[in-house]
Amino acid sequence: MSAGGGGERGARRAVCPGSFDPVTNGHLDIIGRASLLYDEVVVAVLVNKNKSSLFTVEERIDMLTAVTREYGNVRIDSFHGLLVDYCRAHGISAIVKGLRAVSDFDYELQMAQMNHGLAQVETLFMSTNPEFSFLSSSLVKEVATYGGDVSRLVPPLVNERLTARLAERR
Ligand code: PNS
Repeated sequence: MSAGGGGERGARRAVCPGSFDPVTNGHLDIIGRASLLYDEVVVAVLVNKNKSSLFTVEERIDMLTAVTREYGNVRIDSFHGLLVDYCRAHGISAIVKGLRAVSDFDYELQMAQMNHGLAQVETLFMSTNPEFSFLSSSLVKEVATYGGDVSRLVPPLVNERLTARLAERR
């Protein structure tokens, strides 16, 4: 049986979905570890026109592409609508998510149960590296906005683009 579940033949493919505004070292930790378990990992950026973002979807994809290049079996894409519809359309049977703390669990469990109920897509939770348990894109943006050092929390390229974007906005 494949790690993606369902017992189907072919490539074992998982998705790491999210906003990635911007990608952090916490995301990269999960993506990198998922890439060791699956033949292909698709990092899918949610296109959400109702949510204001610091980076455009294209900019987020660009940064993700650059920082995941070394993994070889990671592909970046975007999606809108339901994640399970994206999974169905792309032959993906598993969603991989990082759990940072118990506080993540309630909502993540609800989503996992909903996604399984809708389309039998499994969700695999990976415990986040404790080094990144406090880390989120929102906190990174807030700290950087007020001049805090986030260089250990995001890849160097993201740190550069974050600094430049915040300078433009000042
Ligand atoms: O990085 P985020 O914003 O916490 O990621 C949330 C995301 C994209 C994983 C979640 O909002 C999602 O899957 N959205 C797609 C819409 C959908 O399928 N909603 C039903 C979830 S049960």
